[in-house]
Amino acid sequence: MVETAGSQSSHASQIEGARLRIEQLRKEVEHHRFCYYALDAPELSDADFDILYRELESLEQQFPELIVPESPTQRVGAAPSTEFTPVRHRIPMLSLANAMSKDDLLEWQERLVRGLEIEDKEPTFDFVCEHKIDGLSIALTYENGVFVRGATRGNGEVGEDVTLNLKTIKSLPQKLKPVAVLPDGTLAVSSSSSSSSSSNTEADLSANLERRMPALIEVRGEVYMPVSSFTSLNNALREENEAVFANPRNAASGSLRQKDPRKTAARKLSLWTYFIYVIDEQIKQPKSQADNLNLLAALGLPVEPSRQKVNGLDKVRDFVDHWSDLRHDLDYQTDGVVIKLDDRKLWDRLGNTSHSPRWAIAFKYPPEEAETKLEDICFEVGRTGAVTPTAWLAPVTLAGTTVKRATLHNADQIARLDVRLGDTVVVRKAGEIIPEVVCVKFDKRPADSAPFVYPTECPACGSALARVGEEVVFRCLNVHGCPAQKVRRMIHWVGKEAMNIDGVGEMLIEQMVKAHLVEKQSDFYRLTEESLLTLERMGKKSAMNILAAVESSKQRPLAALVFALGIRHVGASVAELLADRFNSMDAIAKATLEEMCAIEGVGTVIAENVIEFFAQEENRALIFELAELGVKMEVDQDKQAIVLPQSLAGKTFVVTGTLEKLERLEAEKAIKARGGKATSSVSKKTDYLVVGANPGSKVEKAQELGIKILDESEFLELLEMP
Ligand code: IVH
Repeated sequence: MVETAGSQSSHASQIEGARLRIEQLRKEVEHHRFCYYALDAPELSDADFDILYRELESLEQQFPELIVPESPTQRVGAAPSTEFTPVRHRIPMLSLANAMSKDDLLEWQERLVRGLEIEDKEPTFDFVCEHKIDGLSIALTYENGVFVRGATRGNGEVGEDVTLNLKTIKSLPQKLKPVAVLPDGTLAVSSSSSSSSSSNTEADLSANLERRMPALIEVRGEVYMPVSSFTSLNNALREENEAVFANPRNAASGSLRQKDPRKTAARKLSLWTYFIYVIDEQIKQPKSQADNLNLLAALGLPVEPSRQKVNGLDKVRDFVDHWSDLRHDLDYQTDGVVIKLDDRKLWDRLGNTSHSPRWAIAFKYPPEEAETKLEDICFEVGRTGAVTPTAWLAPVTLAGTTVKRATLHNADQIARLDVRLGDTVVVRKAGEIIPEVVCVKFDKRPADSAPFVYPTECPACGSALARVGEEVVFRCLNVHGCPAQKVRRMIHWVGKEAMNIDGVGEMLIEQMVKAHLVEKQSDFYRLTEESLLTLERMGKKSAMNILAAVESSKQRPLAALVFALGIRHVGASVAELLADRFNSMDAIAKATLEEMCAIEGVGTVIAENVIEFFAQEENRALIFELAELGVKMEVDQDKQAIVLPQSLAGKTFVVTGTLEKLERLEAEKAIKARGGKATSSVSKKTDYLVVGANPGSKVEKAQELGIKILDESEFLELLEMP
């Protein structure tokens, strides 16, 4: 057939249409795969996902020239693990010079005056003041408004690719909003927050403007862990006797660099952005830092709300003073104020030193340390019997709060510091959260002081304390008799992620344990209105509410129940893995070490602790009683994953081409349900290549490597699926 110019152009526009749709579909499929595989939190039903996937496959079949190796159809079951490949930053990530005092700020302004060669020795520059967020800096790349890559700072030139982990941050948009652009390429963003008087007309104006998405955007910002998330994370770690994070910054960094994005997702990180580079031939860079921040906000990126444009250094000082105490009320840690010259033209004239821009500076608040007297050392007994020492101090103000207690960590730390009762000590808020004793002022030590003798008996029950194995902590081994351990266990039982018994708090539990109403967890289910009313200050209405909350806790999911038992090293996520794999308490109790270790995310230490827990007679009796009292002990029938014999354990599969009876996702699920692994590319590690229609190049590669090739019917036979 002879092609006319018209048919050529209609073919071209068809291809263009297909290309756009394919790109769209690929992004959606990638996103949903990520939710499904990496986060275990699908947003679509399998059927809806299949519709998207099939549309993509069929378009690619129609237009094979549009197939690219990165297409999700070419990569079966993207593995969730991240590799942290090095990424070279398009624009190096600089650091900031520090100002440790107000005088340093003045010197900075003098340097600005010299650098800009201006006459006025007391100029009133416009500055933008922002909190210096204490997290870790990251670079985000958006191509045509879609988040494509995120990297840590690294050495400023090369960082680590943490895209998958960043995708788990809820406040990080995957897609940006288009922004209004004036005909000359200026972004119309400055109106949004600057002047309210003219905002009507400007809003009207920008409503008529073309909305566009810059081709390439580089964003800089800080990933942080909210203080509230940090506190609950550390509480959970402490409950499980795992090492806690010293401060939210370490926690954020540790969480962002997890190999498994599901773990990052569980850590509840957040983000503030403070800088943007627009790389687009038709769009101009914003002309000031205030506009940068407005643009970030207009694109839908999170921008810290306290930011302020001020005129003159005095106003900068006011901002610094204003926030010096108030900053402690924010749900994120700040360690200073970043001050930036607002006018972009001045930046170009000033330039950068080798490691920082001359037009910005970080004012650092002084370190938060204080001296005070150590009045006593007290000991707390945790749920698992761990005894931790706490220093009781003469009240002292630190980082905006009155501190009366500080941690001494453990016996070794007390010995290392040689801290004694009556000593003057230096306390610090480590990461400004948990105060700790840093050192002793030996020159202020009273003459009659005596070395501190660590107790040998449990402060709550008097039984002997012991160190087990290599552990640094001393433990009370009276697991079932110690009242302090009992109280802590009950507090854990009623917790939100555990049995979620609303209205029963620490004080009430202490009362209940004291009155012998609750000795063990099953006793909650034996409470009656009469027994509750014997407690001091208990009214009829509260009693009824408590009974209702206890009753509804019987229906908590199996994972919550397993977590509530407080087995060492079994946190909420491990409990979920166990519940998902075994479906019932009975099956978990009977599981072998090998069966448990076969679950990804469950190691020997966890498995041993689970086995030890169920080996104890008291624990078995407790579970029996709970079941008798009506606490649900299994996963609901309709939510049960059928546990099949693990006939494909240790075998790695690649599925290629289109299968007739199974969708590719279903095939992968079937492999995984039998203990096998489904991967995307053929390598020496592959055991089987399953081949459907139109398989592509993988077959050749498998033949070269001598890998066993299965057709669909052989595969179904192996699965024992007729
Ligand atoms: S501007 C070239 N603004 O502080 C400009 N940085 O000590 C560099 N930081 O590496 C950054 N809050 O991680 C800027 N509002 C803010 C910031 C901020 C925190 C961090 C950032 C940077 C470090 C420099």
